[in-house]
Amino acid sequence: MTTITVDLGSRSYPIQIGPGLLSNVGEEVSKLVSATSIAILTHPHLAKRYAPPVVDSLKKQGIRTELILVPPGERSKNLATLGRIYEQMVSAGLDRKSLLLTLGGGVLGDVGGFAAASYLRGIPFIQLPTTLLSQVDASVGGKTGIDLPSGKNLVGAFYQPRGVFIDTDTLATLANRELRSGLAEVIKYGIIRDEGFYRYIDGSLPSLLSRKPEAIGRIIARSCEIKAEVVGKDETEQGLRAILNYGHTVGHALESATAYRRFKHGEAISIGMVSAALIGEEIEHTPPDVTAAIVRTLTAAGLPTSFPDDVGNNEILAAMQRDKKTIGGRVHFVLCSAIGKVETVSDVPPTAVEAALNRQRNL
Ligand SMILES: NC(=O)c1ccc[n+]([C@@H]2O[C@H](COP(=O)([O-])OP(=O)(O)OC[C@H]3O[C@@H](n4cnc5c(N)ncnc54)[C@H](O)[C@@H]3O)[C@@H](O)[C@H]2O)c1
Ligand SMILES: [Zn+2]
Repeated sequence: MTTITVDLGSRSYPIQIGPGLLSNVGEEVSKLVSATSIAILTHPHLAKRYAPPVVDSLKKQGIRTELILVPPGERSKNLATLGRIYEQMVSAGLDRKSLLLTLGGGVLGDVGGFAAASYLRGIPFIQLPTTLLSQVDASVGGKTGIDLPSGKNLVGAFYQPRGVFIDTDTLATLANRELRSGLAEVIKYGIIRDEGFYRYIDGSLPSLLSRKPEAIGRIIARSCEIKAEVVGKDETEQGLRAILNYGHTVGHALESATAYRRFKHGEAISIGMVSAALIGEEIEHTPPDVTAAIVRTLTAAGLPTSFPDDVGNNEILAAMQRDKKTIGGRVHFVLCSAIGKVETVSDVPPTAVEAALNRQRNL
């Protein structure tokens, strides 16, 4: 088992990573929070398989649990579902001393974290992430929230969990496509912060795609370490934390232009990371061999690297302008100058962006 600390003064918390952790949740949670009642927010199909060890381990500590079930999918990250979660928290008798556990992927962590942030003006919550993407990214760092019909993540709060328990055994049931989607964010950590890690991922893709526990455990731990370090230095994204958005400017635009239905988040980010490399090339920030390496690694991971023909540049550029990270109409880009090193660039000419998108279509 590996433990990493997110260092945020009085709001610091541990991330534990290892196999079989769900059966120890009761004991570990009791060390972090003294709660008399606990609600577990999850999806029906995950409840069947993964809730029993959690419930049993909490029972052993004499803690009462209630399950709150919501359907899977991004459509659960909305106001209507949030409303139903609050109502079930009331029915379950949750008070300010109660704890919410989120057992699932990034959708549950985001909506559950926001429910915890706002119910009774805030109750503690702990993340039990079960997708690779949520284990390496969404469960760490305290960004919580929901989508509005007019856009993704438009309502939310920075609200840190009291702990994150990553049971790597849960990945056994994850669909291949979800695994690859998570790998896109893992590759991102290498690109933005750690060349050695990038080389390790690149050389271990066959082991990672066949879910070898050693390799999987190692990439989750290193990804969480990088995220914890960045969040510890810049919790509310005043500067450094923006590097985590590498590939996300075009990636989010593509998700929005395709109504969040066509691509998994990591797939869109994979395409966006190639866009960012090509945009960097256009303004002589990114060396061509860096772009070539990124395209090769993403392709070997089974991830897409270019746009579908029926999504035009205009749709992507328009979606980029609507992004909430656009400040005063100017789009900021995180660009890579070498593997392991990125910078925020705010004055990229629109012609360079368009030229890059055109080149990407002919890769
Ligand atoms: N808060 C953050 O910092 C942050 C960062 C990245 C992404 N996100 C958010 O996370 C969401 C995406 O998260 P995601 O990719 O985990 O998607 P998800 O939560 O929708 O999970 C994907 C699918 O996998 C299923 N699933 C989950 N665990 C499983 C398991 N162990 N076995 C079998 N099936 C399982 C889910 O039921 C769902 O159908 C997006 O809403 C995104 O905005 C948040
Ligand atoms: Zn992401």
